[in-house]
Amino acid sequence: TRRIGILTGGGDCPGLNAVIRAVAKSLMRQCGAEVVGIEDGFAGLMEASPRVRPLAWEAVSGILMRGGTILGTSNRANPLQDEATTARVLRHAQALQLEGLVVIGGDGTMALAHGLAQRGLRVVGVPKTIDNDIPGCERSFGFDTAVATVTEAIERLQTTAESHGRVMIVETMGRWAGWIALEAGLAGAADVILLPEIAFDVEAVAAVCRARAQRRRHTLVCIGEGARPAGGEPAVQAVHADRPEPLRLGGVAHVLAAALQPRVPVEVRATVLGHVQRGGSPTPFDRVLATQYGNEAAQLVMAGAWGRMVTLQQGRLSSVALADAAHGNRQVPLDHPLLRAARQIGVSLGEPAAG
Ligand code: F6P
Repeated sequence: TRRIGILTGGGDCPGLNAVIRAVAKSLMRQCGAEVVGIEDGFAGLMEASPRVRPLAWEAVSGILMRGGTILGTSNRANPLQDEATTARVLRHAQALQLEGLVVIGGDGTMALAHGLAQRGLRVVGVPKTIDNDIPGCERSFGFDTAVATVTEAIERLQTTAESHGRVMIVETMGRWAGWIALEAGLAGAADVILLPEIAFDVEAVAAVCRARAQRRRHTLVCIGEGARPAGGEPAVQAVHADRPEPLRLGGVAHVLAAALQPRVPVEVRATVLGHVQRGGSPTPFDRVLATQYGNEAAQLVMAGAWGRMVTLQQGRLSSVALADAAHGNRQVPLDHPLLRAARQIGVSLGEPAAG
């Protein structure tokens, strides 16, 4: 019988279990394959003895709606860190008699998978990230769930901000892409949406807050963690200066709050949502998308289409070469229709007032 390995690498994201389930069920049903789960991402193959477990039908039943990953994941494990480690990983894959490996992960994990593929390992990739920033893939599972979580948080912040007439800043994840901030900001009726793609003007944001305060209205500002001010706001820039790539931590909301407070006549508060955005049960949309991705990955395995990653392009399932997906950072294009719609309905994107 055929044996296929499966692992989840990098940061977790809602829908991973739905993919694992679909890959395993599809392979078991369609070609009677044995599916082997690798624990904690590539770490499970890097150690002296591999950490794996069989994924029988029962093991992948009942996990569709569960957040996280039943296999565990690791952020740091790098199978390409040195020649001995790479050789060990390849040896383990051979000893386990794996015909190939399904790797579910983000850009970092895809780069590692690509490196191993160049060394002869047969892999198929499935894109994962709440950030929705993988090149060649217009929608990654986990994003819809993150947007739903952020939207709910914004709604809650709206009512308390309204009671106090405050400026409320909410910071989302998303690294250098503003997809989460943009969609959740729109869904949560934010007054200002600040994205990494558009350098913001603190004075423009303050002007919106002041104008609203004058009408006794509160202001909701939604900011993506990678957003940066247009030159000249030293406090905000200082924080970004020593932020290494990839962006970790978050906190730009607090810096913005400090910059805004002296410029507005009302109280400013900031909330950094953080990892709450990565947790919990996937939305129905993400369950379905993850199921489709998992099943499609199984089809690629059965077709022997190694070295490819499943994607969604123009609403259709497809695949791209792993090499083309290995470098994340699909940002919101500046001519994206949602940006136009936001401006047209009067949502500020932190751009300086014209003229
Ligand atoms: O890429 C997903 C993501 O959640 C980003 O939105 C965020 O910047 C980063 O991962 C956080 O990473 P960590 O899990 O290392 O805190």
